Amino acid sequence: MIQAAGNCQKRPTAPPFGGEPFNNVILARAPMFWFEKGLLPPHRVIACFSDYQEPATPLYEVERAYISGSSKVRQREFSVGRACARRGLALLGRAAGAIPSDAYRAPVWPHAIVGSISHCRGLCGAAVAQRNEALNSIGMDIEERRAVSPDLADMICLPEERAWLSSFSSVQSRDALTAIFSAKEAFYKCLHPVTGLIFGFDAVLIDVDFSGGRFRATLQTPLPPLPATYRMTGEIRLSDDHVITAITLPAPHPCLADRPKSS
Ligand SMILES: CC(C)(COP(=O)(O)OP(=O)(O)OC[C@H]1O[C@@H](n2cnc3c(N)ncnc32)[C@H](O)[C@@H]1OP(=O)(O)O)[C@@H](O)C(=O)NCCC(=O)NCCS
Repeated sequence: MIQAAGNCQKRPTAPPFGGEPFNNVILARAPMFWFEKGLLPPHRVIACFSDYQEPATPLYEVERAYISGSSKVRQREFSVGRACARRGLALLGRAAGAIPSDAYRAPVWPHAIVGSISHCRGLCGAAVAQRNEALNSIGMDIEERRAVSPDLADMICLPEERAWLSSFSSVQSRDALTAIFSAKEAFYKCLHPVTGLIFGFDAVLIDVDFSGGRFRATLQTPLPPLPATYRMTGEIRLSDDHVITAITLPAPHPCLADRPKSS
């Protein structure tokens, strides 16, 4: 079920690869819009997005200290990302508070909350949820459609992924490459906070099913405590301008049962 708040309009877009249009990406002129359950079923994940039209929202002191030395553009995206996250937390019934960044840039969420933030030109978003027996971590990523240059395919893709790309025309292939990149970024944001590991693009194989709005992520190497060949399923949404990917790590995974939680 998808619910939208604010002055939202639903804008179905034709997928580039045939099949039914995606009806479940909600875009809006309103400063903020959100949908729940549509992106990451079956958990109650709330994803809030902004097109950067709203005025900048104030930061907490710890956030300001972290970002004040950065460029104006970076400060703006950081601030809008925090605004999206706070809106989501409010919808979960949580009081407003700071969301600091850790030494690896990962957001430090309030107690028992999991979440993820992403920003790119024209769209910024945050997904948040209560950590529970079915949900251990979230990763979300937003990219502009066709943002990733084909020159980068060798760096980003495994041979199987490159073979899949070669089945498309050049424009579609660039869309598909951006989708793989985005899925890997979402995967990293989901698994880095849980494993504490920094890993490269070759750590995971992505299979994208555009018409189903899903992708499968298969580990190519152990990321302790997760074993090699461990599989996760993510969601992918395309709008006219952006690709959004999101993935969750279920819990309790037998390997994760005794792991300390980040907060
Ligand atoms: C962090 C990263 C994944 C995305 O950063 P980006 O290109 O700036 O793109 P986005 O805007 O989508 O995401 C940035 C947000 O991700 C979140 N993030 C950053 N590092 C993170 C981490 N280690 N764990 C979880 N979330 C993280 C932050 O919220 C950050 O926004 P903020 O600094 O304003 O809070 C990327 O820069 C990176 O470090 N990648 C590592 C290598 C990699 O991608 N490997 C792929 C393995 S499959």
